[in-house]
Amino acid sequence: MQKLATTLLIALGIASLPAVADVASGQKLADKYAAVAKTIDPNFKPSADAGRAFFTRKILVHGKEISCSSCHTDNPANPGKHIKDGKPIKPLAPSANPKRFSDIDKVETNFEKHCLEVIGKDCTAQEKTDYITYLLSIK
Ligand code: HEC
Repeated sequence: MQKLATTLLIALGIASLPAVADVASGQKLADKYAAVAKTIDPNFKPSADAGRAFFTRKILVHGKEISCSSCHTDNPANPGKHIKDGKPIKPLAPSANPKRFSDIDKVETNFEKHCLEVIGKDCTAQEKTDYITYLLSIK
């Protein structure tokens, strides 16, 4: 399924997003992920609430409870801090950091890495849509 989703992303032209960094890139990216999610569930509707729940959901990893918010904090408009090396992380919300979600390669690499770390597998197109929708809802 993951292979299919990736192929679809490429087919939908996600790889050719313009390099202009602004809040609109996040919306475009969310729309592309939503298009993929709809091929799996035609009734899928992006939900900021589901994205928020996903972002703060705690999962037990190697005896420690972690979530996306462990490093990115409960408020994605705030700067985060890496739980392992303590390094600062720039805010995830495009309203606070317009560079976010403008580089599809970076976004996909980070999703893959962090989803694997936190959930043990890559996130679905639906989860990614909801997640970005939530981040875009933060002003
Ligand atoms: C262990 C710490 C940590 C956790 C947990 C974590 N992240 Fe990250 N995240 C980072 C770091 C470090 C970066 C890259 C530094 C940067 O871009 O400022 C990053 C960047 C990202 C980006 C890149 C966005 C962009 O356009 O630049 C996405 C997407 C992302 N994380 C998603 C997630 C998701 C989804 C989860 C939960 C499943 C998650 N992260 C959990 C540390 C973490």
